[in-house]
Amino acid sequence: MLRFRLFLLTFGLILFCGQVIYHQRLRKLKHSSHHHDHASHISMPPYDVRMFGAVGDGETDDTEAFKMAWDIACGTDSGVLLVPYGYTFMIHSIRFTGPCRTGLVFQVDGTIVPPDGPESWPKNYSRRKWLVFYRVDEMSLQGGGLIDGKGHKWWDLPCKPHKGANRTMLRQPCDSPVVIRFLTSNNLIVRGIKISNSPQFHFRFDNCKNVHIESIHITAPALSPNTDGIHIDNTNNVKIYNSVISTGDDCVSIGSRCYDVDIRNITCGPSHGISIGSLGNHNKRACVSNVTVRDSVIKNSNNGVRIKTWQGGSGAKSGVTFQNIHMDNVRKPIIIDQFYLYLSDIQYIGIKGTYDIRSPPMHFACSDAVPCTNITLSEVELLPAKGDVVLDPFCWNVYGELQTLTIPAVSCLLPGTPRSLLEDDFGCVHKM
Ligand SMILES: *[C@@H]1O[C@H](CO)[C@@H](O)[C@H](O)[C@H]1NC(C)=O
Ligand SMILES: *[C@@H]1O[C@H](CO)[C@@H](O)[C@H](O)[C@H]1NC(C)=O
Ligand SMILES: *[C@@H]1O[C@H](CO)[C@@H](O)[C@H](O)[C@H]1NC(C)=O
Ligand SMILES: *[C@@H]1O[C@H](CO)[C@@H](O)[C@H](O)[C@H]1NC(C)=O
Ligand SMILES: *[C@@H]1O[C@H](CO)[C@@H](O)[C@H](O)[C@H]1NC(C)=O
Repeated sequence: MLRFRLFLLTFGLILFCGQVIYHQRLRKLKHSSHHHDHASHISMPPYDVRMFGAVGDGETDDTEAFKMAWDIACGTDSGVLLVPYGYTFMIHSIRFTGPCRTGLVFQVDGTIVPPDGPESWPKNYSRRKWLVFYRVDEMSLQGGGLIDGKGHKWWDLPCKPHKGANRTMLRQPCDSPVVIRFLTSNNLIVRGIKISNSPQFHFRFDNCKNVHIESIHITAPALSPNTDGIHIDNTNNVKIYNSVISTGDDCVSIGSRCYDVDIRNITCGPSHGISIGSLGNHNKRACVSNVTVRDSVIKNSNNGVRIKTWQGGSGAKSGVTFQNIHMDNVRKPIIIDQFYLYLSDIQYIGIKGTYDIRSPPMHFACSDAVPCTNITLSEVELLPAKGDVVLDPFCWNVYGELQTLTIPAVSCLLPGTPRSLLEDDFGCVHKM
């Protein structure tokens, strides 16, 4: 006990000295130059979670240490919470709450793991979340480390859709934690880190603004249920760049009320592709607009770029562009499944590569009541990965045009625009 206190005291002193030195440097800098009012380029001594008693042996519960480190880092300008390289920290569900001072950095160089599976999950904690960031403004989550969700035991729960078999209709509620959730947070950067084996979605952003995700790596086995890579909902101004995602479900999924989403240079697969959808689920307003996905690769996936909607929603989706996407052995490279939701202005430009001949490579299914309009295709060239072309592209009640010839030929788009349609009828306030 005494040794432990001495240890804390020593670290406390180091911490204190670090602070003093930092503030002296800051003061000097402020005096010496009028041009440098921003302190952000001075590196703060980081708050290493070990200073707060974290052990990092992969078994000891280090949750309290993370909480303390967060409180201190959060309350400091340009504070850095450091998860050091070479250690594995086991932590329970935790909510990192803001607002914090500006310039906070959550630096993950080591490994973070949760308790191992549902049996070890504390009974009194929600089974739907693990690491939650709430009301955080301006933070970077970065580093070369790993956040490992250890999902294996969750995926085997009997309530899960059985590995790969008949997944579609059998999604019973079966709570499992999302690895990282950001709620009501703005100005976020997520950079460099690896996330693996989530029990459920790897990342989920709800009600956030200005999210920049860059150079991250997400992996989970192809047959792990519901392990979407990145899911966003009611979130806008999102950039996802230069990342590699392979999971058992959607690579990126975009839910209701998202707009201004830019996705570039990502490699997906195995996965279920990039999907905009399950919009309108639970009677929600589904409006989505200005989404671009470009310069990306989708391989060994059952869908490529997909727009899906469910019955019962309302709203509209417009201004979606898929451009320069390479498909490699994708079962349904281009797919729209729409029910009653107004879909318009969807562009497919430069979608090339190979598909699995079990399904048509292009599938546009819109409803009788509400057609899809202004769908344009240009430079779409999709060849069978192996075997012969057997199925023609499928269209149902979809209006649009080909700007170039496509491979395979698409002859089922309806010309023009149905006269009865006016976007305003669908109750969306468009930003565009
Ligand atoms: C759950 O129980 C543990 C041990 O009794 C306690 O330390 C913890 O604060 C509880 N957590 C919640 C969210 O109630
Ligand atoms: C999948 O499950 C649904 C709903 O339980 C059932 O109606 C359908 O026949 C199943 N399909 C297969 C291929 O097993
Ligand atoms: C695309 O992303 C990969 C990482 O997946 C990166 O290595 C490559 O440099 C990026 N390309 C461009 C043009 O940024
Ligand atoms: C679409 O979103 C991008 C960011 O991804 C933004 O720069 C652009 O201004 C938006 N366009 C419109 C018309 O709002
Ligand atoms: C069709 O959609 C494109 C963008 O995908 C847009 O530029 C164009 O204005 C739309 N045309 C009509 C008639 O709305």
